[in-house]
Amino acid sequence: MPDVKILVVYYSMTGNVAALAEAIAEGARTEGAEIRVRQVTELMPEEVINKRPALVKVKEKYRHIPIATNEDLEWADGVAFGSPTRYGNMTAQLKEFIDQTGKLWMSGSLTGKLASVFTSTSTQHGGQESTLISMMIPLFHLGFIIQGFPYAEQLQMGMEAIHGGSPYGVSSISGPTAERSPQKQDLEMAAALGKRLVQTARKLRRPVEQAEAA
Ligand SMILES: Cc1cc2nc3c(=O)[nH]c(=O)nc-3n(C[C@H](O)[C@H](O)[C@H](O)COP(=O)(O)O)c2cc1C
Repeated sequence: MPDVKILVVYYSMTGNVAALAEAIAEGARTEGAEIRVRQVTELMPEEVINKRPALVKVKEKYRHIPIATNEDLEWADGVAFGSPTRYGNMTAQLKEFIDQTGKLWMSGSLTGKLASVFTSTSTQHGGQESTLISMMIPLFHLGFIIQGFPYAEQLQMGMEAIHGGSPYGVSSISGPTAERSPQKQDLEMAAALGKRLVQTARKLRRPVEQAEAA
């Protein structure tokens, strides 16, 4: 019976963040957690999506992923939030999901849960760090404890290839047309973040369980 519950919640338009989400979930699963993978509600009008076959293809591919709810957040011990970068910031779609958590904010029911963030940009210096750090801001308001991605995860330090990953979270670089999928190194870092989330959530749960048993 898994002792830790991890939610991976994301928005992805062209599939890069979705691929990172899958890798984070897989990493967390191999570490023994129960997983929910959820996408957030699309805000782009359907007629806009339907004009771009590449977007329709991604929508079809991930149609089976349920839409995230506040209940998913309440269920989880740890949450990985993912969004592509939009002008150095998270997408409106993910922000809108976070903006719907007012009830949980007021009740304090997310306080003390663990969260990590992940992103994808088209360029190497297009704002990954500003996106990741600004994604953390509402999470602090909601009471999340942030799990970063420390340099102990040494893959992020390699210089031989273009890759994502920083102390603020995992990421990928998709190129000008968004067609460069997360590379092996990016996916390995994503899996490592999933594992780390479970390990830390487990440590946070233990004192609660010990108190309950006493
Ligand atoms: C409106 C818009 C704004 C974007 N802003 C940035 C940006 O500031 N920096 C950057 O490097 N890429 C930017 N991108 C590119 C996406 O972040 C990038 O293609 C990302 O990999 C998409 O993730 P996805 O495949 O999960 O949708 C932007 C894309 C769009 C559509």
